[in-house]
Amino acid sequence: MCGIVGFVGHQGDALTFLFEGLKRLEYRGYDSAGIALATNGAVALAKAQGKLAVLEPLLGTLPRGVPLGIGHTRWATHGRPTDLNAHPHTDCRGTIATVHNGIIENYQELRSELIAQGHTFVSDTDTEVIPHLLEAYGGDEDLLGAVREVERRLSGAYAFLAISAKQPDRIVAVRRSSPLIVGLGEGVNYVASDVGAFLPKTRRALVLENGDVALVTPDAVEIQTQEGALAHRAPFTVDWDIKQAERGGYAHFMLKEIMEQPDVWTDCLMGRVRGDHIEAGELGLPWSQRKNIRRIQIVAAGTAYHAGLVGKALMERLARIPVDVAVASEFRYQNPVLDPGTLVLAISQSGETADTLASVSLARQLGAPTYAVVNTVGSTLARESDYVVYTHAGPEIAVASTKAYTTQLLVLTMLALQLAAERGHARSDLVRALWSLPALGEQVLASLGKIVEMARRLATESDVFYVGRGIDYALAMEGQLKIKEIAYIHAEAYPAGELKHGTLALIEEGTPVVAIVTDRVMAEKTLSNILEVKARGAEVWAIVDAGLPQEWPVDHLIRLDLPDPLLSPALTALPLQLLAYWTAVHRGQDVDQPRNLAKSVTVE
Ligand code: F6R
Repeated sequence: MCGIVGFVGHQGDALTFLFEGLKRLEYRGYDSAGIALATNGAVALAKAQGKLAVLEPLLGTLPRGVPLGIGHTRWATHGRPTDLNAHPHTDCRGTIATVHNGIIENYQELRSELIAQGHTFVSDTDTEVIPHLLEAYGGDEDLLGAVREVERRLSGAYAFLAISAKQPDRIVAVRRSSPLIVGLGEGVNYVASDVGAFLPKTRRALVLENGDVALVTPDAVEIQTQEGALAHRAPFTVDWDIKQAERGGYAHFMLKEIMEQPDVWTDCLMGRVRGDHIEAGELGLPWSQRKNIRRIQIVAAGTAYHAGLVGKALMERLARIPVDVAVASEFRYQNPVLDPGTLVLAISQSGETADTLASVSLARQLGAPTYAVVNTVGSTLARESDYVVYTHAGPEIAVASTKAYTTQLLVLTMLALQLAAERGHARSDLVRALWSLPALGEQVLASLGKIVEMARRLATESDVFYVGRGIDYALAMEGQLKIKEIAYIHAEAYPAGELKHGTLALIEEGTPVVAIVTDRVMAEKTLSNILEVKARGAEVWAIVDAGLPQEWPVDHLIRLDLPDPLLSPALTALPLQLLAYWTAVHRGQDVDQPRNLAKSVTVE
């Protein structure tokens, strides 16, 4: 998703900061980038389609030592990724510049109105209406006043920054849904869509609330609410270790994030699991709510949805609470049946996924309590849900979600065990065993060296099936998404027992099938399904619990030392993630920033 960065100082080199800041936002995924500086009464602009390496040589045309500027990484929504559609966008006179995240829904009508008034548009974007409106409302004379007028005209979910070369001491920042954070320096302030952009410069920050308009000058941040009242947003210190946001010696962020999972599992369990009980208060959902739950409705997207599928199995089997799981983009338009006894549980790494946010907003309108399982502290989902629990996975930089997913699984496991205990189905054996997971994770990761070669074989394929039953099927769903998104191999997950009802017709000599077997109750059944595909010539990669007694007549075998199947999902995810990772590496793909994808999907 798009990234925003801004710099306003008494002095200093905005250009260097903005380019470095954009580099730190690269993980969000983008297809063009640009920078605008306010200099000598005009805006100096450099922007280009493609990665920052394409932009970098163009920066030579921009002046150094200018202390006001804004930058942007764009992920195309309105208009193709081109040089002209890249942000920043300017007004007709070239004195006002803006960068924008999100969508202006009524841009077509505004654009027609502005063209009728004589404004000239050069891009296909929705964004470009903003600088032209600012021009029309006198932004060069009073940027803040013009922004206030303009944001009354815009509908949609967005955030933007505006500068005017005629007022070179200020950035005006607007937040309507998409996140914006101000970094507080000495004689300089920064604005960004993500703290990571300014972390090397300052750890003091404040988060703009929805509806805020901020006037950011080198020494002050003046915030007005949507209604125009002055507001105070409490500064806080960002405690992320900058090292966490670096690759730590691994070739890719994704590999680093896979390998650090045992550590983040420790962070996730910390303070929440003590001996044979869960510290319920640490799960963020008060007893007054937990005791009323009759049904749970999980909403999420992509990988987080797959975590929800595992969560459903855990909560139904352990706590005997009925659980439905919905893809958020569907749920929000399904006119769902909700009531105060249905807990709507939203799962999200970023906490900014538009469909998930809309689902939670709908749930609240319908009177259902909302509870978010989120990784990003201070994210919109965390702030807009009634209750929140954080997964503590740390910043996840690779677009493909790995550690965020497995920490979601752990939080859902803790929740299921707590709800089970409160409903008279306590499993203190499982609670005690939770703390064995980080060490088991280390062991599993250490045992998976052979996956590199197994992936080399898979890398030559163009279609692959992932099969399993029960929780293993939910894991198969995640396995197939991982290989699709980073290795660009078409993949399909199937309940193993369902193959013979049609899909088995596709199995022929050499068809690759990844089978997952960790559920002891169904192992024999899944083995039969493996034999069915083997008999038709399939080449099988099997990921199995080493404790199972069966023989596995497969082509590539990964045996995992697993605890109870209800505690195993996060461990079983590890080989699935590594298989996708190494397959993508062998195919020479851009593992951390796969094509067409963004880390945070803040548009529908
Ligand atoms: C896949 C992936 C996506 C996200 C999905 C939801 O690896 O990362 O499928 O899981 O876009 O994002 P969040 O969790 O931020 O709501």
